Amino acid sequence: MSTLVIDRIGSLVTNDPELGDGPLGLIPNASVVIENGVVIAVGPSGAVADQRIDADGACVLPGFVDSHTHLVFAGDRSAEFTARMAGQPYDGGGIVVTTEATRAATTDELDRLTMVRLAEARRHGTTTIEIKSGYGLDVPNELRSLEIAARHTPETTFLGAHLLPPEYAGRADDYIDLVCGEMLSVAADRARWIDAFCETGAFDADQCRAVLEAGRDAGLGLRLHGNQLGYGPGVQLAVECGCASVDHCTYLSDDDIAALAGSDTVATYLPAADFSTRQRFPNARRTIDAGVDVAIASNCNPGSSYTTSLPFCIALAVRDMHMTIDEAILAATIGGAKALRRDDVGRLSPGSAGHAIVLDAPSHHHLAYRPGVQLVRQVIT
Ligand code: NIG
Repeated sequence: MSTLVIDRIGSLVTNDPELGDGPLGLIPNASVVIENGVVIAVGPSGAVADQRIDADGACVLPGFVDSHTHLVFAGDRSAEFTARMAGQPYDGGGIVVTTEATRAATTDELDRLTMVRLAEARRHGTTTIEIKSGYGLDVPNELRSLEIAARHTPETTFLGAHLLPPEYAGRADDYIDLVCGEMLSVAADRARWIDAFCETGAFDADQCRAVLEAGRDAGLGLRLHGNQLGYGPGVQLAVECGCASVDHCTYLSDDDIAALAGSDTVATYLPAADFSTRQRFPNARRTIDAGVDVAIASNCNPGSSYTTSLPFCIALAVRDMHMTIDEAILAATIGGAKALRRDDVGRLSPGSAGHAIVLDAPSHHHLAYRPGVQLVRQVIT
């Protein structure tokens, strides 16, 4: 049995309002005791254990929960990004460019690239991560992507319905049959979730509904990409199907917000995608004020959002999506946990996972106040 104490914490974010002040459950001058990876006590500074980390007055918060990434890919789309910054629009069509590079990569290379991105995410404080397939788009390559993802996280998502691969041009319904049939039958053992891209240019609501229903029948949890590039049926479909999360939510109508508010579906914002595609930023106040559960995730992928940094996403959500700093921290921790239907992560309270970040800063406010600065001093898992 090994016991660790993080001591002399200047400001501890527990995310448990019963333990401290406000929604973040803030405790000043605190310590956290972790036994065998699980928090067993939080309280005043001065607790004793076998091992000790001296936070020296810094802020400590729960590790970030990144509930939306596409980490398994090969190739480079910096030219597409450069063209976009010169005025080209984003339409998701570049997914096929990454699919070609991913299919051509060796398994060892894909795994190595995934691990490099995971290490980068961890340096930015991510301790729980979801990883999607979706750049294979055929049976062997979707399976291979999920096998690689499953080596690194239990939160794996089958995204065969990401975009129509070129060999199925003009035969979208045939491709959806493949996704719901043979592809799902090999993916289901390696995935916890199923997802689809519900957007003009990708798949329509009926096609996505077929994918979600097939996934549910195979025992997978449901999530959906929706309302990224314009208003559309994604959010309503996600609520209708009981998705754990609908992700992007850049264009939400009043009806979409009402539907989310009456549901268990989390609205997951991906601010770095709006940044990197020059979309307008959604106003998160509308969903938060309506009582919708919200999350922030990185959406790390080579096309619309090539960042692993949740601190960057937090800063964008505060500056451009009108979240308060406290709301953005909650969205990147407990919000991500809700989007993954997890209650063991995203908080630091007795019984939770001992996943913590020690900041090089006295308070969590610095995560938005000092954008672009490496403030994560130490990550504990
Ligand atoms: O979530 N929108 C769909 N999928 C990714 C983008 C993928 C890409 O452009 O390669 C996203 O933004």
